[in-house]
Amino acid sequence: MCGIVGYVGPKQASNILVDGLRRMEYRGYDSAGIAIINGNGVKIRKAAGKLSALVEKLKFDTPSGTVGVGHTRWATHGAPTTPNAHPHLDQSGRIAIIHNGIIENAGTIKKALLARGHCFKSETDTEVLAHLIGEYYVDNLEEAVAGALWDVEGAYGIAVVCSEEPNTVVAARHGSPLLVGVGDGEYFVASDASAILEHTRSVVYLDDGEMVVLKRDGYRVRNLTETHLEKPVNQIEWDLATIERGGFAHFMLKEIFEQPESLTNTLRGHLLEEEGTARVRGLNLSDEELKRFDRIVITACGTSWHAGLIGEYIIEELARIPVEVEYASEFRYRNPVLDDRCLVIAISQSGETADTLAAIREGKRRGARTVGLVNVVGSTIAREVDGGLYLRAGPEIGVASTKAFNSQVAALAMVALRMARLRNLSVLHGRELIHALQALPDQIRQILDRAPDVERLAQKYHQASNILYLGRGVNFPVALEGALKLKEISYIHAEGYPAAEMKHGPIALIDQNMPVIFVAPRDAVYSKIVSNVEEVKARKGRVIALVTEGDAEIAKLAEETFPLPKTHDLLTPILASVPLQLLSYYVAVLRGCNVDQPRNLAKSVTVE
Ligand code: G6P
Repeated sequence: MCGIVGYVGPKQASNILVDGLRRMEYRGYDSAGIAIINGNGVKIRKAAGKLSALVEKLKFDTPSGTVGVGHTRWATHGAPTTPNAHPHLDQSGRIAIIHNGIIENAGTIKKALLARGHCFKSETDTEVLAHLIGEYYVDNLEEAVAGALWDVEGAYGIAVVCSEEPNTVVAARHGSPLLVGVGDGEYFVASDASAILEHTRSVVYLDDGEMVVLKRDGYRVRNLTETHLEKPVNQIEWDLATIERGGFAHFMLKEIFEQPESLTNTLRGHLLEEEGTARVRGLNLSDEELKRFDRIVITACGTSWHAGLIGEYIIEELARIPVEVEYASEFRYRNPVLDDRCLVIAISQSGETADTLAAIREGKRRGARTVGLVNVVGSTIAREVDGGLYLRAGPEIGVASTKAFNSQVAALAMVALRMARLRNLSVLHGRELIHALQALPDQIRQILDRAPDVERLAQKYHQASNILYLGRGVNFPVALEGALKLKEISYIHAEGYPAAEMKHGPIALIDQNMPVIFVAPRDAVYSKIVSNVEEVKARKGRVIALVTEGDAEIAKLAEETFPLPKTHDLLTPILASVPLQLLSYYVAVLRGCNVDQPRNLAKSVTVE
């Protein structure tokens, strides 16, 4: 979703801003722009479409100046046109603003501004805020921004510059992430650490309600009432290589191939083999507290929600605690029944998804303990939950989540293991699960060695217009995730279903043109799924099956099979999802799609 970057320092700002925007392209956007201050007014350049369109404009017309702000916009209010692209100017043309989020009372403010003679050039809520700041401006940008923000309702991350103050960037956050980059004689503001990682790893995370004033000689954090706040400076652990493609054609492919390492990192330090349990200290919950919970609600969006569904099977099976999995967007507006014996687990790669964040706030308000399984260190969800585990999967740039998904499942398995061992799970069963978890990275490597087989499958089926994914039990969510992955990046219509439920609808779609992908390992429901394969075969459907290595039975029925190494039944999803990720990837490439930045999607959805 929208990206913000701002700069104050000795270097030419436009290059730094465009490079920062390029690093945030993965978040999803549909127009881009920059504003530069150079003692000669505010210079704005913007363009609809990809960043390359802006770069093309800048080629012959780059404003010079060492202070500025840049933005990639994901359209909410108004179509993705150049006039709607940020930055936006105030009425006087002296103040430029970039904005992530939505100003909810923009309509009312705009009406009042129109009545006072303001004219608007775009349909955006952001331009309204620019004009409002302009009205507050006398001779101090910081105070004008603070003044205007008192009047504003909604969510925002903003960065503002003013031609009258050529050494200043003012930024503020309320519900939309923002951090300050502390460099050597230069200062940055950004919505995503990747935008500034090239220049500094020292960052200050702003909290809701906070502002920052960047000057050439330093920065100062404040809020709307206090003008000085002390904030810790954090060090980002990952380096530039982790956010670059490193020889892979796409980030998504790189991230699929990183899974042996990312999973190893997720598991590292958590598995206690001897005791057959997992160490989950980050949850900030004592064993006594963990034993007290009699219900778990998992809340998440998109791929993370699918991981949650797998978690439901694992936790209920091992720990025998009832689990509900809720779309965060639904949970936040329902009237959920929660109390202090309910544990709310939020799952989020980015840690910034607006609905998931709102869901944990709702959970807290209703007295539940909240924990997060989050990948991005320092993200808002990670900071707001009562405790949690970092996934440590490393930065995920491809919009379609891959490695984070499997790390989420592994993290859920560890939470389940801990809770189960505090209840009735035997040490032997606990150890069995640990051994299976430890074996996963190598087993994923074996699957990745077979990537050419998946590519061949993609060649065979990439022209399909519909694909059905079926699974049972813990592998039903794998079917959902396989279908989601395919539709996200290849735009082929795909649906995931519990295999037996097929009879109640999707079976009507099956004919000789319909590929049906079964996740069919030799587990407790194997014989049931064989019957479902027969049902598809009987209607001439084209069966592709993920099977346990050595399984000859389904091979007789299926047009194609792909072998999965044997693992603990509850961990099959981690292995089965890998060939499905690869399949989506290769199909999308064959169809000429933009794999890393699929149309309309955003990596991190910071509006509801
Ligand atoms: C977006 C992304 C998905 C992701 C979902 C939830 O829709 O495109 O890949 O699964 O958000 O994101 P989160 O960061 O909370 O896991």
